[in-house]
Amino acid sequence: MFLSQFKIRISGPLLTFMVALLFVAVTSGCYDSKTGKVEFGGAINFELPAFPETGSHAVVVFSEMHYSDSYRAQEVPRLLPPEGSVPVTGGEVKILDLDELKVLDIPRKFETSYDDNNAQRVYSVNCQVCHGIKLDGAGPITTLLSARNDGSLAYDGAEPVNLNSDRVRELSDGEIFGYITWGGRPGLAAAVRGKSSSAIMPEFGKMLTEQERWHLVQYLRQRIGTK
Ligand code: HEC
Repeated sequence: MFLSQFKIRISGPLLTFMVALLFVAVTSGCYDSKTGKVEFGGAINFELPAFPETGSHAVVVFSEMHYSDSYRAQEVPRLLPPEGSVPVTGGEVKILDLDELKVLDIPRKFETSYDDNNAQRVYSVNCQVCHGIKLDGAGPITTLLSARNDGSLAYDGAEPVNLNSDRVRELSDGEIFGYITWGGRPGLAAAVRGKSSSAIMPEFGKMLTEQERWHLVQYLRQRIGTK
């Protein structure tokens, strides 16, 4: 019998009496099932476990999700990855050294994941405005006119490089990747000196994934060939 587990042994007649007392308490209305309080004529008071009629405890139902503790996308505070953490796929080691870039090959995984339509889309969104649809450096940006001091109008930014030229054809895959990552030759040169780039070409290392940049290298190579 389970009562034998208790230190105080309760004799049979006493147990019968207690059960009867409980029965009387519950049926006579002296027991408040919500609070567990039992009161006999003001003289005997004790507490039993409470059993609210629903059989459960009260749950606060807060219907307005608007007020709950949640944050929408892009809303502060953002949950940023802990300092120094790297993606499970491994972090990108950004290479600054031109000699190292020269001998850098397209990583196998990015070679096999290449999709020409996708790379075309990445090029048209990010590069075409400057380097042009034909890669000839005659993107729409070159037709944007700005006023000069003498009143004449001209595009006075650095000319986007003709990507379909010997100058680029001669570059290794790693070098093209480096220039895309750091913002052209001037961008890479600035990064080597620990300076931020002031080149016209953006630093795509900050905007495109490592995979997208390697795919762009392949996209260009397939169209311009090697020398
Ligand atoms: C805002 C204009 C602009 C955009 C956008 C741009 N570039 Fe450039 N790019 C330039 C300019 C200008 C240069 C010449 C270097 C300089 O003065 O910054 C250059 C240089 C380069 C070079 C180095 C060529 C060399 O021989 O020096 C490569 C490769 C290149 N761009 C590829 C790309 C790719 C790929 C993209 C798209 C991800 C891109 N660029 C987007 C303007 C741009």
